[in-house]
Amino acid sequence: MTQMLSSQDRCAALTQVVGDVDVALGLPNEAYLSADYFEEEKRKVFAASWAGIGFAKDLPEPLWVKPIEFLGEPLLLARDREGQVRVFYNVCRHRGMKLVFEAGKQNVIRCPYHSWSYDHGGTLKITPHAGGPGNNICSRLEKDVTGLIEIRSHVFMGVIFINLDGKAPAFEEANAGLLQRWHEYADKPLTHTGSDSGFTLSLDTNWKLAVENYCESYHLPWVHPSLNSYSRLEDHYHIMQAGEELRPGVTSEAFAGQGTLVYSPMLADDGRRFPAFDGLDPKWDKQAEYTALFPNVLLGVHKDHSFAIVIEPKGPTQSVEHVEIFYAQPHVAEAEWQAMRDKNATMWKQVFEEDIFVVEGMQKGRSASGFDGGVFAPAMDAPTHVFHQWAASKMLAEAQ
Ligand code: FES
Ligand SMILES: [Fe+2]
Repeated sequence: MTQMLSSQDRCAALTQVVGDVDVALGLPNEAYLSADYFEEEKRKVFAASWAGIGFAKDLPEPLWVKPIEFLGEPLLLARDREGQVRVFYNVCRHRGMKLVFEAGKQNVIRCPYHSWSYDHGGTLKITPHAGGPGNNICSRLEKDVTGLIEIRSHVFMGVIFINLDGKAPAFEEANAGLLQRWHEYADKPLTHTGSDSGFTLSLDTNWKLAVENYCESYHLPWVHPSLNSYSRLEDHYHIMQAGEELRPGVTSEAFAGQGTLVYSPMLADDGRRFPAFDGLDPKWDKQAEYTALFPNVLLGVHKDHSFAIVIEPKGPTQSVEHVEIFYAQPHVAEAEWQAMRDKNATMWKQVFEEDIFVVEGMQKGRSASGFDGGVFAPAMDAPTHVFHQWAASKMLAEAQ
């Protein structure tokens, strides 16, 4: 039974979530079940923040385009002539036809309806016969329509982020805390090696449960026994940072996750290891960190590779995880590294598959109508609570 709260009860429930970790309750059941809550999240959580929608590697060269859907919005990812990633609504400015149906390289972005054409910067270039047969000039167009409707976008760690409502602080400001923490990784070129470096997982769960689970290492001994055999619970530490006021009216976002002090993968029998990123502090020899960039991107950094998971919310109880792995040095794409790449991807796939049981199990638990959101064990669940606080605060925020 989907449980809907009155707006007063919802407000009271969310207010309990934002309290201190030792007294707070988790988000109420309706946050995981209700279509209405999910609709409101689209606006207050996803549109108002920097949400992950895809990967820059899917636009391998200038003039590539890729149509996607995100939360029901038809979007177009494009790489312009200068190599810049751009995101537009995938809709023609004429009569609103969906513009692009297939990914690929195109010299112009041409609408299949009346052939209006745009360049990859979104500028309207040709409007055949718009002024009458044989006349491509229409004064109304020159005045009112200059091109596709662009959405603010930013690429970080291989992920394409958008801010749909256009009101969030600039990406670098919104995520100033994480960029500072990971400044050594932030601008490094990443090598994606094709289909052996990515996979998708479909989950019967609300997107937030995947984020929550990612924020904590508490479950390691029971859910990831093989990982726990070399990276034990006590080798992990919490990562959590509240949003900070950067300047009047501009606040960075909170973020949370966990790190390990004993990262040391053995992927080859001969002891060979992937080459590391250039210029890292020696602390990264053994450290690795896993952080959720709210709302829906899960990132991991290690000295020799990073990964990014874009969680695509498909509805209140359905999500898809798009996982891509990126290596530190371009020559890892060569054939001699294939076996190790395969092993690395298999290892991560196993870890993320092990999590499916618990994120789907927590989803099932949310149908228990007497469940109150649950409590947090302050010593172990504080990063998870940071996410709950963030998600509840977004829902409590009044529309600007
Ligand atoms: S709707 Fe695109 S050209 Fe007419
Ligand atoms: Fe896990």
